[in-house]
Amino acid sequence: MKIAILPGDGIGPEIIEQAVKVLNTLGEKFEMETAPVGGAGYAAHGHPLPEGTLKLARQADAILFGSVGDWKYDTLERALRPEQAILGLRKNLNLFANLRPAILYPELAGASTLKPEIVSGLDILIIRELTGDIYFGQPRGMREAPDGPFKGAREGFDTMRYAEPEIRRIAHVAFQAAQKRGKRLTSVDKANVLETFQFWKDIVTDVHNEYPDVALDHMYVDNAAMQLVRAPKKFDVIVTGNMFGDILSDAAAMLTGSIGMLPSASLDANNKGLYEPSHGSAPDIAGKGIANPLATILSAAMMLRYSLNRAEQANRVETAVKKVLAQGLRTADIYEAGTTRVGTNEMGDAVVKALD
Ligand code: IPM
Ligand code: MG
Repeated sequence: MKIAILPGDGIGPEIIEQAVKVLNTLGEKFEMETAPVGGAGYAAHGHPLPEGTLKLARQADAILFGSVGDWKYDTLERALRPEQAILGLRKNLNLFANLRPAILYPELAGASTLKPEIVSGLDILIIRELTGDIYFGQPRGMREAPDGPFKGAREGFDTMRYAEPEIRRIAHVAFQAAQKRGKRLTSVDKANVLETFQFWKDIVTDVHNEYPDVALDHMYVDNAAMQLVRAPKKFDVIVTGNMFGDILSDAAAMLTGSIGMLPSASLDANNKGLYEPSHGSAPDIAGKGIANPLATILSAAMMLRYSLNRAEQANRVETAVKKVLAQGLRTADIYEAGTTRVGTNEMGDAVVKALD
């Protein structure tokens, strides 16, 4: 099994180091190869997704990704910005299914900005379509408005579109995920306004015929945003498009109080995947040794489960993370009075130790 290690920018390298440490203590020899990506890719090879990095990602069975982005690169033209690396990997490798669990560990109930009774025991899974929608739809660009009340003025435009097979394949992923959990699926759309999402709703409804054991409901995205903060535990699995999923998954992540705890998986049709923490590159704390490595370690656990077919090892890692939380160890982002504050390295070491 070959794993591509793409640390990226900001805190990426420090947190990836911890996850690699954990993988190396499982008693198996994984082949790992590291390559630069994002701002680091631009610095090394003049492009956020260098050819060699993309090649390695294609060859590997799975990709462990840190994070990309740094203020240093904000003035570059769009095509050279660090974010293009992750968008390019998703598109080139056909990683259309993005799984973003939002789980509230009982020990961290106090970290949420919501009342504990609203969020304690929260366990929801957002499935975001990742290679279509307005993110990638053509045409897009800037031009002189060809018509309308502002004809002749400068305008920016993007295209929202979804093809039937794109909706079908993500719907299948979502129904199958729901079958393995609470058997409830909420499809989030904006069918009251957008043609694209009326179509989405129709296709998801049709795919439902193949999954009679799953309860399906439909919710407009604005209402879904409201329900997520009002009564988040009513959800089991949520499936939605790329744009809505981007927004709702950040909101869901914050319900748990620490985005530093949440892993994610982006899968293709054969369960090859890219695994990354849900948080960003946090350049303000990079290099200080205080970042929370648990989201990346939990992403490595998802990798063991989905791409490397090692569910038992995945469980071991997840149990070890729960153990260190129960021991009271906390990085700064989840620190509360009465717990023990540790740095990135110490947290990684504690998970390693908790593995046996
Ligand atoms: C995410 C991020 C990315 C996205 C950015 C970095 C391009 O916000 O993974 O949610 O918008 O998809
Ligand atoms: Mg996002």
